[in-house]
Amino acid sequence: MLALGRVVGLPRPKLSQAVPHLLQVHKLLEQKSRLASAHSRAGVLKARSLSTQLGIQVTDYKKDSLDGLVLKELAFPEAGPGQAVVRLVLRPINPVDLELLHGAKAANIKLPYIPGFEGLGIVEQPAAGSEKFEKGQRVVGLSFAGPGAWQQYVAVPESQLIAVPASVSDEAAAQFYVNPITAYGLLEALAVPKGEWLLQTAAGSVLGRLLITLAKREGVKTINVVRRSAQKDELLTLGADEVIATDEEDIPERVAQITDGKGAWAAANPIGGDITAQLVAAVRSEGTVHLYGTLSGDTAIAPIWDLIGGKTLTGFSMPKWIRGLGDERRFATALAVMDLIEQKVIEPLTGPTYKLQDFKAAIKASTEVGRGGKILLSG
Ligand SMILES: NC(=O)c1ccc[n+]([C@@H]2O[C@H](COP(=O)([O-])OP(=O)(O)OC[C@H]3O[C@@H](n4cnc5c(N)ncnc54)[C@H](OP(=O)(O)O)[C@@H]3O)[C@@H](O)[C@H]2O)c1
Repeated sequence: MLALGRVVGLPRPKLSQAVPHLLQVHKLLEQKSRLASAHSRAGVLKARSLSTQLGIQVTDYKKDSLDGLVLKELAFPEAGPGQAVVRLVLRPINPVDLELLHGAKAANIKLPYIPGFEGLGIVEQPAAGSEKFEKGQRVVGLSFAGPGAWQQYVAVPESQLIAVPASVSDEAAAQFYVNPITAYGLLEALAVPKGEWLLQTAAGSVLGRLLITLAKREGVKTINVVRRSAQKDELLTLGADEVIATDEEDIPERVAQITDGKGAWAAANPIGGDITAQLVAAVRSEGTVHLYGTLSGDTAIAPIWDLIGGKTLTGFSMPKWIRGLGDERRFATALAVMDLIEQKVIEPLTGPTYKLQDFKAAIKASTEVGRGGKILLSG
């Protein structure tokens, strides 16, 4: 089981032991965040009365274009019982957002809808009688999918909000949910013992970098596959044990050299496609390859004899994993991940920020080869 990060000066608990402890700590985090809110870098809200707001709506699924997306004036959300109104100020563009708006088969979301799983918000109006949050406080959601984070205001249950500690930057908080929690859950699902090798592709992604750091902290060694050799030094500096660049090296051959012929314990692959077969070949005889993304399309190629021989190909979905934890452990896990960010154990890499209105240029920038940090939408 993956060990949790340190929480405000207390010893490190295991996930299974952590729930009561972390829920107490949540109150402390909220108090710390309240103090920080007065000086929030996202700015103090002006008093305003609004009937409409701006948001990006998907009105049609277009596989190869952004023509199905429009910037729209939307109704200002009304808070139901137990709900707070949150002003969203910063949100990332994640691959999953793009897969869904281009009509990913599995999702089946009813049109029109507003994309965006996550973002940094400021409490505009706490729930009636709230003792948990106050106006102006920085918060993130678990998650903002449903209303959608690519709009200016959402009404969400306060029970789904987490206060952002003072030392966490707006940019890191904005991308707290999708990648950090996935890296955390994926590492647990991969179950690589201390001292063994974890193999991963797209290692230079925001998520891949988080996995390198978290694995190192757990004593797990990483072999990191990238498509451009120019990225090697950057990942080695971050703490990668080995980096394989597919523009000049063969994956199974190099993994065999690195692991003295034993193969990697397990592999994580968000690319799919042909590279999957090379990963299956490169893991140990009982090893598992976890598919968790569709960066090269929604099919994967696998060598059947390797699977018949005892290797496994499976999938990983963070939303499914975290739902499976149940409400209490889900919340405790989110707090533990926020704590890892607060302690700077992990830091999601940030790229340029675009205005919400410039979403088409921002989406294009987010898919550039060699983009680096996460593109964010502000306002
Ligand atoms: N299953 C889940 O629950 C879950 C949750 C979160 C994220 N994910 C998935 O995790 C993956 C990473 O997310 P992210 O936000 O960290 O991504 P990201 O920051 O946008 O990075 C994408 C990375 O993938 C590389 N890449 C893109 N297309 C590629 C291809 N065809 N072949 C090889 N490399 C390719 C890029 O390499 P360059 O640097 O060379 O451009 C880049 O480093 C995505 O597929 C996302 O959908 C899944």
